[in-house]
Amino acid sequence: MNSPVMQGLNLDVPAYVKNARLIAWVSDMVALCKPEQVHWCDGSQDEYDRFCQQLVDAGTFRKLDPAKRPGSYLAWSDPSDVARVEDRTYICSQRQEDAGPTNNWTDPAAMRTTLQPLFDGCMRGRTMYVVPFSMGPLGSPIAHIGIELSDSPYVAVNMRIMTRMGRAVYDVLGVEGEFVPCVHTVGAPLERGQKDVAWPCNTTKYIVHYPETREIWSYGSGYGGNALLGKKCFALRIASTMGRDEGWLAEHMLILGVTTPAGKKYHVAAAFPSACGKTNFAMLIPPKGFEGWQVTTIGDDIAWIKPGADGKLYAINPEAGYFGVAPGTNSLTNPNCMASLDKNVIFTNVALTDDGDVWWEGMGEAPAHCTDWQGRDWTPEIGKQTGAKAAHPNARFTVAAINNPVLDAAWDDPRGVPIDAFIFGGRRSTTVPLVTEARDWVEGVYMAATMGSETTAAAAGQQGVVRRDPFAMLPFTGYNMSDYFRHWLALGKRLQNSGAHLPHIYTTNWFRKGADGKFVWPGYGENMRVLKWMIDRMEGKAQGAEHVFGLSPTYEELNWEGLDFSRDQFDTVTRIDHAAWQQELQLHEELFQQLAYRLPQELRDTKAKIAERLGA
Ligand code: OXD
Ligand code: MN
Repeated sequence: MNSPVMQGLNLDVPAYVKNARLIAWVSDMVALCKPEQVHWCDGSQDEYDRFCQQLVDAGTFRKLDPAKRPGSYLAWSDPSDVARVEDRTYICSQRQEDAGPTNNWTDPAAMRTTLQPLFDGCMRGRTMYVVPFSMGPLGSPIAHIGIELSDSPYVAVNMRIMTRMGRAVYDVLGVEGEFVPCVHTVGAPLERGQKDVAWPCNTTKYIVHYPETREIWSYGSGYGGNALLGKKCFALRIASTMGRDEGWLAEHMLILGVTTPAGKKYHVAAAFPSACGKTNFAMLIPPKGFEGWQVTTIGDDIAWIKPGADGKLYAINPEAGYFGVAPGTNSLTNPNCMASLDKNVIFTNVALTDDGDVWWEGMGEAPAHCTDWQGRDWTPEIGKQTGAKAAHPNARFTVAAINNPVLDAAWDDPRGVPIDAFIFGGRRSTTVPLVTEARDWVEGVYMAATMGSETTAAAAGQQGVVRRDPFAMLPFTGYNMSDYFRHWLALGKRLQNSGAHLPHIYTTNWFRKGADGKFVWPGYGENMRVLKWMIDRMEGKAQGAEHVFGLSPTYEELNWEGLDFSRDQFDTVTRIDHAAWQQELQLHEELFQQLAYRLPQELRDTKAKIAERLGA
């Protein structure tokens, strides 16, 4: 029997766990973290229910009204632990240039020395949960396995929703299979007899990646991407380095299927920065004027994309659930999402209504009274007077993909779906037009590489400032950004040389504002009008009009049935202001200077061509 005894603690390794490297690693981590006990998660419903009850008993969860939100819970985090901490996130590659100028880098040996004392005894008085998970359909050639060791039952239950978590993972892992080791602690050991708090965490935080050894170490936070290590840490930062080495892509992209009235199906992968509507776009309901069209969701946040033998790019959603932003979601902006949230949801940092349900800003009419995400009384009047939000702007829901009424039939297909188009969309009040198609792969890579976006509440720090967010991957690329651009260019070249038809590349901006400071484009379901234009382009039915950096639709080329949107409004969201673009190119230049080391010449050449056209 595999049951080593560590420091008097019987590891109780279940008989179905046969991977020697895994057992040795868990033993080592137990010796380091010194938990009171070890629990090997089997991923069963019974286990999930027990953990949830335990979280209720500990005061971390409140069970919501079983009639209003069956099987659902609400957690309020510590007010200091509400978002991803980008400034505490590290890529510790052997060489600094491999992390590049957009990542925080520390020498891996130095980081190990820093972390050692922090992890030593960090789980005292707590249970270490061994969480086995597959990113992607179990056994898919595109999927990979991770094991997260965490002292947070909140993490264990969220991981069960967000990934394929449980016993079956060990069957795929077998005796010698590879896994990404992920260690997570809230960094709040309990002394004997010490009472726990509802949301343990530490003011010191480290989210650390060692790309060469494919390890993740997370200290001090229990929240979202800091703690659910399958998501940003594995599926983006570590996986992007795996993709660089192995010839595939790990991207911050939703994946959707769109079926035309003629029954033809296309698959689109779209990269928007955090909290810029990926979930809304992935669940879009075609508006009036689009009868017979259907949009279905494969994924809402992350895509793993590999070239198939036929030269096409195949994508899977490595996740099994959605960790979406609640504020702003309602039955007008995203009815499918609201339907997904009917039952079996974990809400974090939304408000609690007096009748045991949840509420957030933008959900609908405010209740006369509720309890805000910090446990304080909240009324619309208090909100007005103090500016206090009932829900934190980065409040989230965790829900299984199978709750989604428009889940694509192929969402769990191990082969993935063939991608016909990529979209890159920033949040910009000015300058960038509603939609532009790149004339070729290199121009598309340029658009994605130079994308700018206003920051949101998904990350701690100032909101609303424009920063360059290449490919919506700024906080998520696990290696040098210039090498990442090279990787995209090389992949395009490779596919092209094999005679493959490359996916079209588009850039979008739903967020342009008018002189009154209000959004001009209605967005949400109306984005279907833009999506249809893309498909018209793919089918050769729309010509578009060329401009300085690509090709955009004419007013006539969009279907306006059911929407009152004037030529003037269209002009406001599509106009290319040459002076603004001169300035924009200056910002591209600043990015290129920052990324000068190993920046592909093709991108400089593309910029020179745009500058020339602008000057002409
Ligand atoms: C997310 C993010 O949680 O991008 O998906 O922050
Ligand atoms: Mn995201």
